[in-house]
Amino acid sequence: MTEENRVAMVTGASRGLGEVIARVLAERGHDLVIGARDETTLNRVRDEISERGRRVVAIAGDVTDASVRRRWVDAARELGGLDVLVNNASELGSLGPLMTFDVQRFGRVFPVNAGAPIALIQLAVPLLAARRGLIVNITSDAAHEAYAGWGPYGASKAALELLTRTLAVELLTHGVSAVLVDPGDMRTRMHQEAFPGEDISDRPLPDVTAPFWRWLFDQDREAIRAQRFVAQRQDAPWHQPA
Ligand SMILES: NC(=O)c1ccc[n+]([C@@H]2O[C@H](COP(=O)([O-])OP(=O)(O)OC[C@H]3O[C@@H](n4cnc5c(N)ncnc54)[C@H](OP(=O)(O)O)[C@@H]3O)[C@@H](O)[C@H]2O)c1
Repeated sequence: MTEENRVAMVTGASRGLGEVIARVLAERGHDLVIGARDETTLNRVRDEISERGRRVVAIAGDVTDASVRRRWVDAARELGGLDVLVNNASELGSLGPLMTFDVQRFGRVFPVNAGAPIALIQLAVPLLAARRGLIVNITSDAAHEAYAGWGPYGASKAALELLTRTLAVELLTHGVSAVLVDPGDMRTRMHQEAFPGEDISDRPLPDVTAPFWRWLFDQDREAIRAQRFVAQRQDAPWHQPA
């Protein structure tokens, strides 16, 4: 493997945290496959990153769509393989107290936040195994803290955390590492949707996590396997015991 042919895939890379992660990966020599539903914003990110000399394939689509996931993995294969997969795309779903929550409305939160990352990993593992690759699943403090009104979203991230730790064990024999990253509160569209009408200007932009990503992608993958990181902790190491 040479520096020139490293390849990464980032879901939800059209804005917010995913865009920052994609930029850091490109800066560190990765060609990219990026995904999100809105084609226009996704192509803007593709064009800006590829102007700096990296190959970027943008494929618009929903993470819950099996044919889209297949196209993302095929694109990585065509770029030469896959070193890093970042499952970042996520939905907040409906917020509100569980006592009055219509459970039919759990809706897409579990399939998007927990199901799709696993389905994408299933497809990507043969490529990742060939390069002793790294899976990064984006979680939230809502996976651990009982925030009133946030039950379904928090539960979907808690599910993703246990699935990721289970995968980290199961993928040992494939030589693939899996980690969790809690990025902390950031001023993004999802965060504004979580606090409608509130001034969220005191939250940092997702660029605040860039130093963490630069550190993470330089780590020995086997050494960080199964760890959970908090990206906004300013005093490295960022590892948070489970
Ligand atoms: N912001 C925070 O304070 C915060 C805190 C803790 C954890 N997080 C986590 O950080 C990650 C990024 O969130 P963010 O704040 O950067 O959100 P964001 O700005 O809303 O970005 C979400 C990205 O995911 C894409 N996306 C959403 N649903 C998708 C779907 N079904 N299929 C494909 N792409 C989809 C969006 O593009 P399209 O809408 O065009 O598809 C967009 O590119 C998420 O996993 C989130 O749970 C965020």
